Amino acid sequence: MQTRLTDMLGCRYPIIQTAMGWVADAKLVAATTNAGGFGFLAGAVMTAQEVEQGIIEIKSLTDGPFGVNFHMYMAQAPEIVDLCVKYGVRAVSYSRSPVPTLIEKLKAAGILCIPTVGATKHAVKAVTLGADAVVVQGSEGGGHTGAVASTILLPDVLDQVQVPVVAAGGYRDGRGLVAALAMGADGIAMGTRFLMTEESPVPELTKTNYLHAMPEQIQISTKLDGLPQRMINNPCLNKLNHTSTLGMWLLAVKNGLAFSKGANSSLLSSLKSAWAISRTGDLSWAQTLMAANAPMMIQEAMVNGHPDRGILPSGQVAGIISDQPTVGALIAAIVIEAEHAIAGLTALSSGTPSTLNPPQD
Ligand SMILES: Cc1cc2nc3c(=O)[nH]c(=O)nc-3n(C[C@H](O)[C@H](O)[C@H](O)COP(=O)(O)O)c2cc1C
Repeated sequence: MQTRLTDMLGCRYPIIQTAMGWVADAKLVAATTNAGGFGFLAGAVMTAQEVEQGIIEIKSLTDGPFGVNFHMYMAQAPEIVDLCVKYGVRAVSYSRSPVPTLIEKLKAAGILCIPTVGATKHAVKAVTLGADAVVVQGSEGGGHTGAVASTILLPDVLDQVQVPVVAAGGYRDGRGLVAALAMGADGIAMGTRFLMTEESPVPELTKTNYLHAMPEQIQISTKLDGLPQRMINNPCLNKLNHTSTLGMWLLAVKNGLAFSKGANSSLLSSLKSAWAISRTGDLSWAQTLMAANAPMMIQEAMVNGHPDRGILPSGQVAGIISDQPTVGALIAAIVIEAEHAIAGLTALSSGTPSTLNPPQD
């Protein structure tokens, strides 16, 4: 299982647990790292102080390497970069709007830059800007996602860049890992599969919605924040999908007032981050206001435990996941299944009839 990715990250298996807002906390990251994978802390929804607390907690739970995820357009991004340098974080991940000066600072400190991209041209640009590896997310993936499926995007990116490529979007098991390696990737990165583990902090009622979702129910919509995002189509998303622009403005204000009490974000802070998002793309004012709603609506499901009143970002793969193992059991099972698949392929290439399906227990 040694690949260029395990060599550069210093982990045992080429399996990354990606950052997920309000899900990839210090405990999930440490559990992944302790099980031989590589976890990223979800710093994109944190203040710099929360990121520092998260890093300190991870270090108290593991001696292994881990990473931090954030957006380079965030006001606190320079502070987060300084924290990564101060604490010797192994790698950072980011997506939209890379900032060359921040990348230079990270690289000068020996921190690996591993952005997530959803299109071939973005992978090429990321490498030009200094990426040490790229996570390539197919449209099956959860949260913000591109338009091209993993089976098409992955080989296209592999043809265009020389750095290690990590396949993401739709992976859940050892067969997926071997398929990605066979295509030429150096590993896989998974979000939703780690969301559905015992250590994931998502409230039980919300997790039940993921366990019961069907693949075709997990759809892409631009209604939440103006950017294509894959989510479980629950009553809340359904309502958004049928709300007019004027309705979105009213909803943003109503939600802002309702959620700001006791929640981690106020309407003002949400508007500020929505404004930052809008500067990175071509969002209209109406979309900017929609983006202000997003963090509060996601937290309602993922933190407050009200799945029907909030938004459930999810990869399509949730539709074929029906268990919640510990992170350790998950990674161990993936490795066994991958070894079985590799043995089956080896037998096949030596002319021995073989079934590649994993043994059922
Ligand atoms: C609940 C949820 C929250 C997410 N939050 C973030 C985030 O904060 N930052 C980020 O870069 N990606 C985020 N993503 C995307 C994931 O990091 C990852 O790229 C994606 O889940 C991979 O696809 P998969 O779910 O099919 O494994 C999120 C995904 C989910 C499902």
